[in-house]
Amino acid sequence: IKSDPTVFVIFGGTGDLNMRKLAPALYNLYLDGWMPKQFSIIGTGRTKYTDEQYRQTLLDGINQFSRSGKADPVKWKAFSESVYYQSSDVKDHESYKEFGTRIEKHAADWKTKPNVIYYMAVSPNFFPIIASNLSKAKLTQDTKRVRVVIEKPFGHDLESAKELNQLLANIFDECQIYRIDHYLGKETVQNIMAFRFANSLFEPLWNRNYIEHVQISVTEQLGMGERGDYYDGSGALRDMIQNHLLQLLCLVAMETPINWESDEVRNRKVEVLRAMRPFTADDVRNSTVRGQYAKGWMEGKEVPGYREEAKVDPQSNTETFAAIKFFVDNWRWQGVPFYLRTGKRLHQSASVITIQFRDVPHKVFPSETSESWAQNRLIISIQPEMSIRLQVQAKRPGLDMILNPVDMVFDYKGTYSNQTPEAYETLLLDTMMGDQTLFMRGDQVESAWELVMPILNTWQNKKSLSFPNYSADSWGPESAEALIARDGFHWFTLPLTSKK
Ligand code: BG6
Repeated sequence: IKSDPTVFVIFGGTGDLNMRKLAPALYNLYLDGWMPKQFSIIGTGRTKYTDEQYRQTLLDGINQFSRSGKADPVKWKAFSESVYYQSSDVKDHESYKEFGTRIEKHAADWKTKPNVIYYMAVSPNFFPIIASNLSKAKLTQDTKRVRVVIEKPFGHDLESAKELNQLLANIFDECQIYRIDHYLGKETVQNIMAFRFANSLFEPLWNRNYIEHVQISVTEQLGMGERGDYYDGSGALRDMIQNHLLQLLCLVAMETPINWESDEVRNRKVEVLRAMRPFTADDVRNSTVRGQYAKGWMEGKEVPGYREEAKVDPQSNTETFAAIKFFVDNWRWQGVPFYLRTGKRLHQSASVITIQFRDVPHKVFPSETSESWAQNRLIISIQPEMSIRLQVQAKRPGLDMILNPVDMVFDYKGTYSNQTPEAYETLLLDTMMGDQTLFMRGDQVESAWELVMPILNTWQNKKSLSFPNYSADSWGPESAEALIARDGFHWFTLPLTSKK
């Protein structure tokens, strides 16, 4: 099934996100036959380009960043004939009339009303301006056909997220708003739901009676790069936990939906956020850890500390690492800790969910038979390794009775030969098809902000650098180890060597 004819208008058409992610994703959708027969991509930005010049910049991006490698000249030519550029100043509402004229022209040529997708690949302070100007130009009214895609950050705190939701609600119907959390488009993340709800094996064990604790760890080797100005006003909690990691937690903790309808799935997810235990001042003190990376060495190269990075305040109080213990106060999860951690400049780039099951109630085998006893674990590796591992105890072959943990592995590479689509391919296709399942609803975003606000407020009020440095290439501050070790556990890591 293909979507109806579609016009994409990409605000921030000359920006990094479009070059690296959106244009390559649209091109790959085209190669794989998912684009409708009639489509048009209108990039817009302040730079003056002709259509031809703009096409060339997108081609450069695709050649560099597309998973399908360098573009095939014939296919690229066919694709690029549907790519246009319109130079405009998003603040000038006059220039929006031109979008209307172009859309009408496509409608006349195609003899049908197209879907129109406005993609805000711009800094969030432009969201309200663009939304209001689209509305003034009467480009938003067709609730069935017109959609708007919003990138994170969705608000800076609860209050600004509510304001933005309100502003959008004055202009669009909720069914027109696609708030992107690109983690939800990742193949391995979508598979969490398939794995849980299309198998009868795991769900009976998926509760406090069998699961001892859950870890969600998204670690990155990358430092700030060029993003210091954005990041310094944000930090790990806002940048990663409020959205990506809490969304992963929702997928692990949600109840079984009745069906695959987008609101049914999103209702089950938001219920998790609503059930999460609010943080008291004591909880912030005892159950959260933050850190900032100091200068050091990564793979033989000297790297600067966070405070020395470009566009970062040399006195910055922004955390580049966060580890937090959450609880979901409902029947299924009462008393089961969910440990989340994320950080920059860490030893390994890996996103891994570890579900640790309770120990056997009684040890049948004498202790000398087990070289290294490990409780059962289900390890969902999102990236770079894409796998699900079930760790079980087994008898090591030999004449003596020795037990050790082994992995039963489902590994994407070994199982499927086709390439995995990029998250943005999935999400852009869903936007064309009008499927909001993998997008954040307004209430989800607000619930997630509500949960993290007490932590943010406490952290912000401590202006001096009241949290530890950690050295580059480490696993973060020692207190993050203590956070989990106090409960008798340790952070699980997969022995990976991949880099990012
Ligand atoms: C983004 C954050 O949302 O996600 C970045 O702003 C982070 O700081 C990135 O590096 C991680 O995404 P991925 O897909 O590379 O794991």
